[in-house]
Amino acid sequence: MQEIPINTLNGLRYGPGHFDRAAQEALVEDIRTIVAEAPLFRPVMPGTGKPFSVRMTNCGLLGWVADKAGYRYQPLHPVTGKPWPEIPERLKDLWRAVAPDAPPPEACLINFYEPGAKLGLHQDRDEKTFDAPVVSVSLGDTATFRVGGLNRKDPTRSFRLQSGDVVVLGGEARLIFHGVDRILKDTSTLLKSGGRINLTLRRVTPA
Ligand code: SIN
Ligand code: FE2
Repeated sequence: MQEIPINTLNGLRYGPGHFDRAAQEALVEDIRTIVAEAPLFRPVMPGTGKPFSVRMTNCGLLGWVADKAGYRYQPLHPVTGKPWPEIPERLKDLWRAVAPDAPPPEACLINFYEPGAKLGLHQDRDEKTFDAPVVSVSLGDTATFRVGGLNRKDPTRSFRLQSGDVVVLGGEARLIFHGVDRILKDTSTLLKSGGRINLTLRRVTPA
């Protein structure tokens, strides 16, 4: 993992090609099993009700949802009413490897980006603790990932995330603004119909 300096903050780490092709394929299989049980849903912005361009689901004890009432973590899928499937062992291994001092992850948000989808600049701050990092895995088409500082107006820079890459937002960089500007079409053969999957592992409650 390499440290990416961002606005003098430490803790943004990047692991290019952390997962090889075989591991990426195995992860996609894991995700297919999860999505069969916990289908993708399209969140909407609290208040305005404007739909996200990204579809989502989760695994873990808690899942992140967004609806007219707000952003939150909850133990049940908003459509099926069932508990979220378990976090795959492969992702728990990743967490142990990159966040050895953190308690186990409680949530894994699964974002699916079709070509054209994006995610505006935001902070991950719906958790009740910020001690543990947020650990992200990219699969499928390359994304332009934008990172800034702790204030929305801070300067930002962007870099490309390819299939198999891992990013850790930890330490001073745990609460940096970040987002996905765009998905670069046809840049990966991992997903048959194209697009990008991003997985983010999170600790939600204090240990
Ligand atoms: C997120 O911030 O939830 C996802 C980031 C990404 O898709 O790389
Ligand atoms: Fe995020």
